[in-house]
Amino acid sequence: MSQNKVFVTRELPAAALDRLAQHCELDVWGEFLPPDYAILLKKAQSLSGLLCLLTDRVDARLLAAAPQLKVLSNMAVGYDNIDVAEASARGIPVGNTPGVLTETSADFAFALLMAAARRIPEAQRYIKQGKWQTWHPTVLSGRDIYGACLGILGFGRIGQAVARRASGFGMRILTHSRGGSEERILAAGAEPCGLDELLRQSDFVSLHLPLTESTRHFIGARELSLMKPSAILINTARGGVIDQAALYEALRERAILAAALDVTDPEPIPLDNPLLRLDNCLVVPHIASASVATREKMAQMAVDNCIAGLRGERLPTCVNPEVYASR
Ligand code: GLV
Repeated sequence: MSQNKVFVTRELPAAALDRLAQHCELDVWGEFLPPDYAILLKKAQSLSGLLCLLTDRVDARLLAAAPQLKVLSNMAVGYDNIDVAEASARGIPVGNTPGVLTETSADFAFALLMAAARRIPEAQRYIKQGKWQTWHPTVLSGRDIYGACLGILGFGRIGQAVARRASGFGMRILTHSRGGSEERILAAGAEPCGLDELLRQSDFVSLHLPLTESTRHFIGARELSLMKPSAILINTARGGVIDQAALYEALRERAILAAALDVTDPEPIPLDNPLLRLDNCLVVPHIASASVATREKMAQMAVDNCIAGLRGERLPTCVNPEVYASR
């Protein structure tokens, strides 16, 4: 009997790959950049499993080209790169990697908040440009974090982990979350709040929403116009949650004070994107979950999902459990 073929779209931490290799015929994309869509399409024809990253588009056409596919395992908690409805229609379970990256991602959202509030990247540039001549009472003054009001949009695992950090900073925490129960919000020391009120009152607004058709451009010109001129927007969710053209205008006109973005639309952000010319916009390359330990755990989890799918077992973390209902 021929072995299950699995394509892994990038080099993962070795321990995870070694384990996967014991369960299938493994094909690992060894290049730094992702495989082109055309390559994925070609490989799809003979695959039983695909272990992919958020940079790989898995759409209806690709799924149609993969008649033997038993499992799709995404090494990410978000899965907006995958047409999950189509995978479900084809009975293919889709796995993701929730939980293991929660604290690391919340740490990073807070790091961005603090870096923007206290102007750390600007301060670093200031020194490198030879501008540090003396201690000065007003130079590079930022915003206090302690005691400020933080608005959290999306109160899932990562939003709640950000709230835990904010509590330690004595912040008032507001949250607007369509799915979140009031009990859970209050237990986390946060206050449920309407969207507009949250935007009006918050000194910091941190985004923790998945990207879906209903959250695309969730923050646009209207929402930005409600924010305080002293407010700072932090995005570690997905770039598409913000209307970037509207954000550029708001930052340029100083309608809000600053933004700190781990994610952009598209990724990578083109070097001629005007956001990169603004002093009040900090952009980093989608690294919120990038700690060595967390990336190892994510890889192991993605491998666990892949192995379970190859065996016809239920994936430990499955985003479309409805595929099992019909079995
Ligand atoms: C990263 O953005 C993830 O979804 O894991």
